[in-house]
Amino acid sequence: MAILPICHYPDDSVLRQKAKRVSSIDSSIQRLINDMVETMQQANGVGLAAPQIGVSLRLAVLQMPGEEPMAIINPQFVKRSGEQEVTEGCLSIPGYFGQIKRSASVVVKGLDSEGKAIRIKASGLMAEALEHEIDHLNGILYIDHIESQDELHEVEA
Ligand code: NI
Repeated sequence: MAILPICHYPDDSVLRQKAKRVSSIDSSIQRLINDMVETMQQANGVGLAAPQIGVSLRLAVLQMPGEEPMAIINPQFVKRSGEQEVTEGCLSIPGYFGQIKRSASVVVKGLDSEGKAIRIKASGLMAEALEHEIDHLNGILYIDHIESQDELHEVEA
């Protein structure tokens, strides 16, 4: 496994591209997933999308506190409902956090790291993380959802 360098806003255009679907889940994708999990854990993140490490593919890894890491490939929303106000950060925008609105609950379908169809029903932090990571696959960053600059804050050292 390997720790991969994370692309930082605004210096990498891959972050702003719409990523391509993963067409086959082979050993190189599985290696990428393992490396992304290690990179996410080392950075203390709850999620990491492939464009953040410079790979324009529809693939993300997630890990909720106290749970096992998981991968989702070619994710799609089945349903999004309600609203929650969240304080969000991003490994690609270090040193900042912001207040935005996310769906309160989501249903997402996609494939797992073995290529098996999965369907995830989530609320709270997991719903927020799924929306955040799927946004990354579409070139969208959480700062795009901020309504005013007053809602973006610098982390105090
Ligand atoms: Ni992010």
